[in-house]
Amino acid sequence: MKALPKAVTEEIEQLRREIDTHNYLYYVMDSPRITDAEYDRLFRRLQELEAQYPGAVTADSPTQRVGAAPLPEFAEVRHEVPMLSLSNAFSGEEIVAFDRRIRERLQTDEPIKYSAEPKLDGLAVSLLYEDGRLIRAATRGDGTTGEDVTQNIRTIQSVPLRLQTTDFPKTLEVRGEVFMTRRGFEEMNRKAREKGEKEFANPRNAAAGSLRQLDPRITAQRPLEIFFYGVGKVEGGALPETQGAMLQQLRSWGLRFNPESSLANGAEGCISYYEYIGRRRDSLPYEIDGVVYKVNSLKLQRELGFVSRAPRWAVAHKYPAQEQQTLLLDVEFQVGRTGALTPVARLQPVSVGGVTVSNATLHNMDEIERKDIRIGDMVIVRRAGDVIPEVASVIVDRRPDGAKKIRLPKKCPVCGSDILREEEEAVARCIGGLYCAAQRKQAIRHYASRRALDIEGLGDKLVEQVVDAGLVKHVDDVYRLTREQWAGLERMGEKSADNLLQALEKSKSTTLSRFIYALGIREVGEATAANLARHFGRLDKLIGADEAGLQEVPDIGPVVAQHVAAFFRQDHNRDVIQQLRRAGVHWPEQDPVAAAPKPLDGRTYVLTGTLTAMTRDEAKEKLETLGAKVAGSVSKNTTGVVAGESPGSKLEKAEKLGVPVLDEAQFLRLLQNPG
Ligand code: IVH
Repeated sequence: MKALPKAVTEEIEQLRREIDTHNYLYYVMDSPRITDAEYDRLFRRLQELEAQYPGAVTADSPTQRVGAAPLPEFAEVRHEVPMLSLSNAFSGEEIVAFDRRIRERLQTDEPIKYSAEPKLDGLAVSLLYEDGRLIRAATRGDGTTGEDVTQNIRTIQSVPLRLQTTDFPKTLEVRGEVFMTRRGFEEMNRKAREKGEKEFANPRNAAAGSLRQLDPRITAQRPLEIFFYGVGKVEGGALPETQGAMLQQLRSWGLRFNPESSLANGAEGCISYYEYIGRRRDSLPYEIDGVVYKVNSLKLQRELGFVSRAPRWAVAHKYPAQEQQTLLLDVEFQVGRTGALTPVARLQPVSVGGVTVSNATLHNMDEIERKDIRIGDMVIVRRAGDVIPEVASVIVDRRPDGAKKIRLPKKCPVCGSDILREEEEAVARCIGGLYCAAQRKQAIRHYASRRALDIEGLGDKLVEQVVDAGLVKHVDDVYRLTREQWAGLERMGEKSADNLLQALEKSKSTTLSRFIYALGIREVGEATAANLARHFGRLDKLIGADEAGLQEVPDIGPVVAQHVAAFFRQDHNRDVIQQLRRAGVHWPEQDPVAAAPKPLDGRTYVLTGTLTAMTRDEAKEKLETLGAKVAGSVSKNTTGVVAGESPGSKLEKAEKLGVPVLDEAQFLRLLQNPG
């Protein structure tokens, strides 16, 4: 090991101080003084020096937050000063009674000052600092004995490993709440969903699950945060004499408290704080289940003392719970403006967070399967923040015998068209885009848009009006409205009606490519529409094409082909197209130019793995020039799979389906000699 020069020791200590200070400015004071890049530079320099001089690494170095190996189990920690709980109040009257009891006990008529703080819904923890260094952290447990979670608490960026300044008590035990913000929670669940892992039902469970990880490297990746709200054991130093001043003092040492904390005068002040925070509850970045009032004077707190496990000097004033149990009566499917089907739970009405909830979203079929939700189940409904109520989970233990599995309908509940759900896609959609009432506005807006039929003046507001007034049901109806009907609409006069009629007339003369694009078929953008138009030349040819025929069009793979074919299979959609042509919409039609036959016409290949002779794009281009199609996934229609080095799951699928596999040498021979 290298000897440690004094200059290095000094630089290391200097860097640690700077990093600690910037952490403090960022997490506690909420006023960073340097950019992230500058911070990273300091951090990397410290890492570099510590790597060169491993002897200089100390446990409280900011580089050492994560690193410890997984534990076999958590050790027990006994709380010298027990961690108490709070008694609850649910109404203003109870707060008035609480305040009265306190004044009676203290024999005073003076209004009592309270420290009013949000009650975060997380986990209580105790952190022990000796000589300003974090030496142990524990969960509350049963209040007397908790679990040693030091390794995990150290990974929370807003927890100082060393306290700021030097005027702290020799022994300082601080208490606070570990929690997860709504954003952190959603982000974490999104990642879990992507990886097909289990999601957490709410931020509290997510925070608890993360803190109780035996592997601190996992905890380090979870967005945990902390606010401190009190102290336990304090020795070798003194604290201020009020709760409010104590919180300020903690902050000066780098231990942050909730900035929403405030002072309240008497029961009245408490209740107005409760109402104020209640109004903002949904927009706070984290979930709270109430507010806490604590007698501000620590001297009075000592006089009041405790009853059983709760202090007489504090109370939690709770808000209505954001989760409730209720019965799932039925599931219906709603069709959105893009045709997406959303399963909606019909519930036995229940009050959640102060609002009666009888419907809740089930998101999509994947969610239903993952959560294993069935009709007749007792479920947990959650309404938090400004999100729509959702079914968070099922109480499987209470599942009745006849609970029914939820099935995706085969036909659209609004228009009766087919429902299409792509393989491995969460969302199912109604394919009757031109006809379906749920998709009306969207369909007309798209049809009229600039790159489609470009009907100038037929904007969103007007579409809204004509659909709401029942004047237009399907897009062809726009060509049937009279001058009087247009002129009679809001913010329309005769002049604008005339202009619109002119624009409508002009739009009738279009191109096949624009018309195909205007139909709003899923996955068919302008480029695909142009390819389809060029390939088929006539609309009827396109309408009559099957999926195999569609896949012969450049750049059209199985997914797009499926959407196009399904769209034209719907009688309803074909009716609307017929009506549009009757109304006079037309375009030049031509027979497709028969392309010279190519050696690999009609064959479809799939590429997987890395080739040495060329990139995947080059391979694709070469195949396409020879007339072959290159698809993204393997099906029984695939001619062959070209497998380079470290091929993916496509190779397995090919083997399963009995599709021929070509290695790179065979592939190169095919390109050389395709006939
Ligand atoms: S004071 C003796 N203050 O609520 C005082 N608790 O039911 C004990 N909590 O276990 C706690 N925010 O997890 C206090 N500002 C706050 C709080 C708070 C959340 C939690 C804490 C405690 C529980 C008490």
